[in-house]
Amino acid sequence: MLRLSADTGPAWFAAVERDFGTFLQDHAACERKALATAMALVAHYPDRALLVDAMIVLATEELDHFVRVRELLTARGIPLAVDKKSLYAAGLRRQLRELSGARLTDRLLVAAIIEARSCERLGIVARNLPDGPERDFYRELAVCEARHHADFVRLAKTYADPDDVDARLDELLGVEAALLTAQPVSAHVHGGGLVPQGEENSDSSVASTTAGTERHGGD
Ligand SMILES: [Fe+2]
Ligand SMILES: [Fe+2]
Repeated sequence: MLRLSADTGPAWFAAVERDFGTFLQDHAACERKALATAMALVAHYPDRALLVDAMIVLATEELDHFVRVRELLTARGIPLAVDKKSLYAAGLRRQLRELSGARLTDRLLVAAIIEARSCERLGIVARNLPDGPERDFYRELAVCEARHHADFVRLAKTYADPDDVDARLDELLGVEAALLTAQPVSAHVHGGGLVPQGEENSDSSVASTTAGTERHGGD
């Protein structure tokens, strides 16, 4: 089950449609960073066998995603973009607590939230692209990122009290929504474009989440 505290509205995909090249460049960067995050967790927690096993599988999948997004870029004659600092990721990283156990929980939950938002937005792209291989690719990726989200939450609950993890996840989800709300709408995977609080998401193509996933609170 996908957990997010706020939905993305139609303005975000409109920005993606206007500048699909920037979206692809940013998406490639996101996959590369997901791979780096997985390997950083292996480096920092080498004695946590379950975590290491899961991160090796995840890193392999993220590398595959990166390669395939780069192929989409190459087919369009677009190079990879120069790395830019993400205010979204930096804002989430600022939430990491210092105490070792709490820090592992937070690192796993921040990763889970980034996966969840990626899943939601790649699912929106999949639903809005015309039929074809790109649509199939984004549909596959949305399902995969939903699984990664669930894996990170499950791992957090393996290494800490599950109720504490749920409470902390809700806190961090609130921070994530605030960070996205502060961003301008853009074609970036983690750019602004949430539905304003108190407003229904009237775009049914956006409101219905990826197959096999649903927003927390919908159950
Ligand atoms: Fe991925
Ligand atoms: Fe992922």
